Amino acid sequence: MPKKMIAGLQEGQQNAMLATVAVGRNNRYIEIANTIVFLRSDEANFIGSHSWQYIAITAFNKIEYNLKKNMSNNTELQKNENSHPSNRRDFLKNVALFGASALAPTVLVSSGKQQTTTPSIDSQNENPMPFITERRTLGKGSAAMEVSALGFGLMGMNYHRGVHPDEKAMIKLAHEGVERGVTFFDTAETYGPFINEELAGKALAEYKGKIAVTTKFGFNYAGNKKNEIPAGLNSRPERIREMVEASLKRLNIDTIELLYQHRFDPNVPIEDVAGTVKDLITEGKVKHFGLCEVGAETIRKAYAVQPVTAIQSEYHLMWREVEKEVLPVCEELGIGFVPYSPVNRGFLTGAINEYTSFSGGNDNRNILPRFTPDAIRANLKIVEELNKFGRARGITASQVALGWLLQKAPFIVPIPGTTKLSHLEENLRTLDFNFSKQEWCELEDAVANITIVGDRYPASEQKRVQS
Ligand SMILES: NC(=O)c1ccc[n+]([C@@H]2O[C@H](COP(=O)([O-])OP(=O)(O)OC[C@H]3O[C@@H](n4cnc5c(N)ncnc54)[C@H](OP(=O)(O)O)[C@@H]3O)[C@@H](O)[C@H]2O)c1
Repeated sequence: MPKKMIAGLQEGQQNAMLATVAVGRNNRYIEIANTIVFLRSDEANFIGSHSWQYIAITAFNKIEYNLKKNMSNNTELQKNENSHPSNRRDFLKNVALFGASALAPTVLVSSGKQQTTTPSIDSQNENPMPFITERRTLGKGSAAMEVSALGFGLMGMNYHRGVHPDEKAMIKLAHEGVERGVTFFDTAETYGPFINEELAGKALAEYKGKIAVTTKFGFNYAGNKKNEIPAGLNSRPERIREMVEASLKRLNIDTIELLYQHRFDPNVPIEDVAGTVKDLITEGKVKHFGLCEVGAETIRKAYAVQPVTAIQSEYHLMWREVEKEVLPVCEELGIGFVPYSPVNRGFLTGAINEYTSFSGGNDNRNILPRFTPDAIRANLKIVEELNKFGRARGITASQVALGWLLQKAPFIVPIPGTTKLSHLEENLRTLDFNFSKQEWCELEDAVANITIVGDRYPASEQKRVQS
């Protein structure tokens, strides 16, 4: 370890550096250390004021850029690069997972902007990868769980969002999420059924203990067959236990970090559901308890049996029911809130218009009243407001939608889903921006003045939710 670099580092950073080099497996890591020593003078404040992760990733970007540049006329270097195809992933995995929260302070870059992703300091590298460092806490006391400020909903990788890339590509995308600092991944037994959990297992089991994969029970699968249509709801204790055993196998983990009831079951008292999860927590099969789409009364009853870590319900600028009772109860009891479909299934990103077709068998937007051509045409006025707000500030509609949710409360952690790296990165960069409450209120008021056309769910699905 070169002395010059050590002298420039704080004690914690020195330790982090030594540990990271120790987990490295080849000379590239030493090269990173040397690159940090030779930072340009205009980067002098860099070491003193940034987290170790930021320093290391920036150095890696710089090395990679130089390698690529040299590769075109240097066959020797090309051989070297080809012999380490997975270096970047291995390196970033090690760095990302090494003391992630302790080493990642928020960096203020200019008034009104809070930077919690990490751009490169290398001006030649025009599009460095974002890396989110902001963490939020869901739940309190023994139910507390720290996660990245934005999660990643895996459902659309094979279910309900139409045509999707193959499994290999989706596994890679989940890895890209981890490499960019995401520690909170969402799946459910019913997504497929079973197929999405299997995908999560293949993609994320290697990070067990470092990230959280959350899943959900609540439907009845008599035959336990892939693509089976569930025979109604079932949250009976024996069914929850059966599901947990099967999910642990599919996810290839020893304990489920956060287990939600997916839909309230009118045939099973919520106290029995909470009691069963409490027992599973005692047995070490589950760590935290969550509920989806439940009302305030159900939350209080469940909480009295087992402290709840998070409520997961639909919440975005086009569906704000939870503001009436659910969010106040979460705040009162210290429960986290996880908005699902945070960009309203793609609509709030501006990527959908009345000519968009949703593929027959595997896209539930086909049956959602807000996704008929007439409803889409009318509701695009909302996207226009998001674009107006975003374009004046240099951000996209998707970032506006996610930013609005994030500023609502510090216990809110949205879980946008995507099948594309570019969309993942765009969404993660939401954490680079922060505007005043006043600005967000103006946006909120402008959207609230627009009459939304179409219900969010058809009647059969709406009757299963309490908000
Ligand atoms: N608890 C529940 O009952 C429940 C219900 C529904 C969903 N969920 C969870 O919530 C997660 C997210 O929900 P969701 O998939 O319904 O809705 P969403 O996250 O609001 O939207 C996902 C859709 O938006 C598109 N998208 C995302 N970012 C984009 C961007 N920057 N630009 C353009 N398009 C973008 C995606 O398409 P691309 O693939 O093209 O990016 C995808 O079709 C799910 O994965 C699931 O884990 C839970």
